[in-house]
Amino acid sequence: MASKFRTVFFLLPFLLFPAATAFNITSILGQFSDFSNLNNLLTQTQLASQINSRQTVTVLVVNNAALSSVSNLRTDVLKKVLALHVVFDYFDRDKITKLSNRSAILTTLFQACGLATGQNGFLNVTDMGNGQIALGSLT
Ligand SMILES: *[C@@H]1O[C@H](CO)[C@@H](O)[C@H](O)[C@H]1NC(C)=O
Ligand SMILES: *[C@@H]1O[C@H](CO)[C@@H](O)[C@H](O)[C@H]1NC(C)=O
Ligand SMILES: *[C@@H]1O[C@H](CO)[C@@H](O)[C@H](O)[C@H]1NC(C)=O
Repeated sequence: MASKFRTVFFLLPFLLFPAATAFNITSILGQFSDFSNLNNLLTQTQLASQINSRQTVTVLVVNNAALSSVSNLRTDVLKKVLALHVVFDYFDRDKITKLSNRSAILTTLFQACGLATGQNGFLNVTDMGNGQIALGSLT
C-alpha cells in the first residue's frame, strides 16, 4: 500500500507560487499560458475554490509540459496529486533558506481535504544548500 502510494502520488516539477492576501487562483494563473492546463484542472477538480478560501497558501505550480505526464490519470487520482501541491503556509525561497534545521513539515490541501491516510498529506521541505530545495514525503 505504501509503495503503491509513492508511485502514484509523486511530486511534479514545480515553481513556488505563494499568496498571502485575498486572491483568485484562477485569474492569477490565467495570466500565464504555460500554466493553462493546471488552471483548467484546478477548476475541474474544484480545488481552485478550496485554494481561494485559504488566507495563506503556496501553490507548487506545474507547467503544461510537466502536467502532460499525468494527464492520463483518473480525475480522482489527479485531484490527489494536485492537492499535494497546495501548501497551507507562505513559502518562498527566502523563507525556505532560513528554516531552522533546514527542514520543515508542510501541511497540504491533500491532508486537509481528508483524502490522505497517515502521513501522506504532508510534505518534507529541506534546504539542500546551493539553491536546491528538496520536497518529499515524510520518512
Ligand atoms: C476567479 O476568476 C475566474 C476567471 O477570471 C472567474 O471566472 C471566477 O468567477 C473568479 N472566482 C471568484 C470566486 O471570484
Ligand atoms: C531543530 O533541532 C533541534 C535540535 O536538534 C530540535 O530540538 C528541534 O525540535 C528542531 N526543530 C524543528 C522545527 O524540527
Ligand atoms: C526530511 O528530508 C530530509 C532530507 O532528505 C531528511 O534528512 C529528514 O530526515 C526528513 N525529515 C522527515 C521528518 O522526514
